[in-house]
Amino acid sequence: ASQEAQNILEAHQWLTKLYHHLLKHTKEGREALQYLEQRGLSEETIDAFQIGYAPDAKHFVVSFLEKKGFHPQTMVKAGLLSVTDENKYIDRFRGRVIFPIRNHQGKTVAFSARTLSDQKPKYINSPETEIFHKGRMLFNFDLARPHIRKMSEAVLVEGAFDAIASYQAGVQNVIATLGTALTDFQASLLRRYVDTVIICYDADSAGLEATIKAASLLKKVGCYVKIARMEQGMDPDDYIQTYGSESFQKHVIQGNITYMSFYLKYLRKQFNLQTEADRIRYIEKALDQISTVDKPVEREHYVKDLADEFELSRETLHQEIRYRRRKMG
Ligand code: UTP
Ligand code: MN
Ligand code: MN
Ligand code: MN
Ligand code: MN
Repeated sequence: ASQEAQNILEAHQWLTKLYHHLLKHTKEGREALQYLEQRGLSEETIDAFQIGYAPDAKHFVVSFLEKKGFHPQTMVKAGLLSVTDENKYIDRFRGRVIFPIRNHQGKTVAFSARTLSDQKPKYINSPETEIFHKGRMLFNFDLARPHIRKMSEAVLVEGAFDAIASYQAGVQNVIATLGTALTDFQASLLRRYVDTVIICYDADSAGLEATIKAASLLKKVGCYVKIARMEQGMDPDDYIQTYGSESFQKHVIQGNITYMSFYLKYLRKQFNLQTEADRIRYIEKALDQISTVDKPVEREHYVKDLADEFELSRETLHQEIRYRRRKMG
């Protein structure tokens, strides 16, 4: 790596320690520490994820980094400082809880900073830098990797908080995309370690859309996709706070459904099955999707449901599926 990349990496390691220290051992950090405790994080978790606090000051990090001998212009590139309209350097993260984003070797390469109030934006993240390519890494992959490998299964969530809460709840094979769409790169990376991915995105309309997109990418690279569900409006962290770790493991993670069942439920909502025309269109669309299932036993399972519900012969449905699969090649 270039000298500049080395410096940026080093500055992140110093700041991780400093922010974490401020959270745990100073008066300034007390409110943030209480906030995290109130959201259910244990001291062990706060330490494992090296969560920290950035003081509400303009030049705290500026002077710290300067004393350590870092070039301020490089630190702007690193996303740790900003430049004001008057061309002055100021701290980028101020008065926020700091979640270090670690690379796959466990080194901090970026930060995600959450407000303690209802300020907007809720999260301020590091920009893309020489050492941080958001679409090429998965949050928590370093801690999750041994669990993912052992189980040949990963749980995919949206937010850093969701990943941390899930990990603490005993779901240690959890990784997050940090609120952005899953990329081809991330899907292929996961495929090297797992057969199955359980998607557990937020139960809202954005999470639903993101689930469909992530699932299709994961299927494309050969993963078997399952979906974990929660009641409308919740995310994994909300669920764990409300119903506890055991319920999360048992009902949400282990209570997953196949991607196909999930997709068919989603598809149904777009049609008025009371009308004949919509019923036919729904059946056609469902067959398109069922045709992509590679396991014959699983295909038969959906065909049977569809045949029973709409009083069709299974043979007709299988014929339609054979036709579609031939076209797919
Ligand atoms: P959400 O909007 O679901 O976050 O965004 P949340 O669950 O309400 O956050 P908490 O639980 O109150 O802390 C999902 C993820 O998208 C990213 C964050 O990683 C977040 O966890 N995000 C969200 C941002 O990067 N910036 C934002 O302003 C909001
Ligand atoms: Mn959301
Ligand atoms: Mn959320
Ligand atoms: Mn949340
Ligand atoms: Mn929220």
